[in-house]
Amino acid sequence: MKVAVIGTGYVGLVTGVVLAQLGNDVICVDKDAEKVAKLRQGIPPIYEPGVEEMLKQGLKDGFLRISDSIAEATEASEVVFIAVGTPPSENGTPDLTAVRAVAHEIAKNISKYTVIVNKSTVPVGSGDMVEEIIRSHGVDDSLFNVVSNPEFLREGSAIQDTLHPDRIVIGSKKREAAVKLVELYATLQAPMIVTDLNSAELIKYGANSFLAMKISFINALSRVCELCGANVADVAAGIGSDSRVGNQFLNAGLGWGGSCFPKDVQGMVKVSEDLGYDFGLLREVIQINDDQTVHFLNRMEKRLGGFSGKRIALMGLAFKPNTDDIRDAKSLVMMDRILLDGGSVIAYDPIAEANVREIYPNIDFAESVYDLGAGADAIVLVTEWNEFRQLDLERLSQGMKQKLLFDGRRVYDRAKAERAGFEYFTVGSH
Ligand code: UDX
Repeated sequence: MKVAVIGTGYVGLVTGVVLAQLGNDVICVDKDAEKVAKLRQGIPPIYEPGVEEMLKQGLKDGFLRISDSIAEATEASEVVFIAVGTPPSENGTPDLTAVRAVAHEIAKNISKYTVIVNKSTVPVGSGDMVEEIIRSHGVDDSLFNVVSNPEFLREGSAIQDTLHPDRIVIGSKKREAAVKLVELYATLQAPMIVTDLNSAELIKYGANSFLAMKISFINALSRVCELCGANVADVAAGIGSDSRVGNQFLNAGLGWGGSCFPKDVQGMVKVSEDLGYDFGLLREVIQINDDQTVHFLNRMEKRLGGFSGKRIALMGLAFKPNTDDIRDAKSLVMMDRILLDGGSVIAYDPIAEANVREIYPNIDFAESVYDLGAGADAIVLVTEWNEFRQLDLERLSQGMKQKLLFDGRRVYDRAKAERAGFEYFTVGSH
């Protein structure tokens, strides 16, 4: 099938390279000339396992082309994906400026029947908005249909998630348009949910809000565990083994961050409010998440007798492992507080360091994880990269002023940490 993907961020680029690998003729479009030049050389603008190889393969095999022209891509394609960014605006709703601009550009270049697919995360009613924009250019209804096809990929496992999705959601007012997408995805052999536009848009918000709620729930339980001496990992295992609950997304920690959960939960609250419903449950989910990091920082502060004059070593800066993304990362909340209270920070992250360096010129970076300890008053595990799991804890503690280990992701075994000479603190157990 001839496909265009507008926007080469996480969602757009991964969708583009996967569809090319499945044998479709794909044009990926971006307005950023530098990105386009790099992509043409096979260099992706994001760090994501597998993307670079697939990009290079697609370009080499000729199934993938990179362009800066929406006009060229629309003319050449039967299906046009809109996969541009929808960052949160001041009031919590996603900013749809880029989606609107792309819709106008597509509309100007439709000359034959085209299915326009919205893959960006957008509030309910956005499909109708795109439809109106296309119509406003005088394009006849018989020449296009709008489909909502939300994306559920996770950063760090984006290719696998796209190739083996739990489900594919297709929302449209017209059967003909939905069928086109069913055909496009048929080779993936995944369950498909074909529904109307609004339901598809709500599934995306609903799914991410539910997952964030699950994490906030276990984090709230971790607070109770700390108070009564229970162990949240065992409590989570006990609750999660009920198949109605499921054991995924029950890892207590510093809370959720990233490019999706914060934006989508906030977006769900706002969308509901606009429709006349106060989704108080989700406001609490956000509050619990914010409190979780602050509470951990308070525990650190209490043990250290304040951050002033203390040197704190952070292990991991990315919002989660296997990504260089630091959007809404808990490391940022930690650094802000420690620096504000007069402490200093040294950090190590295998991939995300460069992104933090840009915005925090006043912190130090260690060459390797074992260089973090020298002169530090505490080490904090912020992001549970695999390479941190099997560390020689005794070596890690070398040169520390105080051997304090704050494990924000429940990775280490307390007895082992104590044998290595650490005083050990973690989430959800005393
Ligand atoms: C999420 C959704 O999982 C994905 O379906 C959607 O398309 C985009 O948003 P992503 O943001 O890439 O994906 O990361 P995810 O793996 O879901 O983790 C989100 C956050 O939750 C991270 O900060 C992670 O550290 C945290 N988390 C996750 C926990 O604290 N505990 C858990 O048990 C799981």
